[in-house]
Amino acid sequence: MDMKQAMNMRHSVRQYINRPLEENTIQTLRDEIERCNQESGLNIQLVTNEPKAFNSFMAHYGKFSGVTNYIALIGKKEAKLDEKCGYYGERLVLLAQQLGLNSCWVAMTYKKIPSVFKMNKGEKIVIVIAIGYGMTQGTEHKSKGISDVAVVDGEMPEWFRRGIEAALLAPTAMNQQKFKFILEGNNVLAHAGRGFYSKIDLGIVKFHFEIGARKENFKWKND
Ligand SMILES: Cc1cc2nc3c(=O)[nH]c(=O)nc-3n(C[C@H](O)[C@H](O)[C@H](O)COP(=O)(O)O)c2cc1C
Repeated sequence: MDMKQAMNMRHSVRQYINRPLEENTIQTLRDEIERCNQESGLNIQLVTNEPKAFNSFMAHYGKFSGVTNYIALIGKKEAKLDEKCGYYGERLVLLAQQLGLNSCWVAMTYKKIPSVFKMNKGEKIVIVIAIGYGMTQGTEHKSKGISDVAVVDGEMPEWFRRGIEAALLAPTAMNQQKFKFILEGNNVLAHAGRGFYSKIDLGIVKFHFEIGARKENFKWKND
């Protein structure tokens, strides 16, 4: 499964079967996490066999069950922290999909278990991603249309349209899809919009856009 197929297949899954992650799956995820941390300066961590974070009333209220593995997005407080967590977290989500796992970004309905993380001074947990073998593969979300999120003067280049299509497949908090992509020459300006967690969403959709549009076709204006 390539990244494009992974984007198409991925849907949020909140209920998981009782099947531990295999050792080689864990290692592949840890290797990619290490690469993400090297590139970004984040301190992303994989937590396995830890049932407590998703065992609260809140988690069940949020319809989660059987979650014992999750990725914690941790980093130093700075202006771009949320966006970076979105970008690198989604890279891991799509890898997890390629490895046959399911996932769900979770901002609210989980409990922080401090003893399982290694935090450095000045760092915070931004969000987590539940991963594991889902009871189902999830379902397609309702989506805005291309013209709702794309701003183009004149004719839309094919690569840009593919980027937008990829971005519309991405998970966003409460499926809000508040983002916009604005084409200016061969530069693309990505705009977060107002909303809860919209900066995390921005990082996520930028990662999808890059896969759909291909990086060699454009430059980000706001990087
Ligand atoms: C930043 C972010 C935070 C999210 N937080 C939660 C959450 O707290 N609880 C939950 O059930 N789903 C959460 N989600 C999942 C979204 O509801 C889901 O991605 C969206 O409805 C689109 O559906 P899809 O992922 O199946 O495409 C979150 C997603 C994102 C991107």
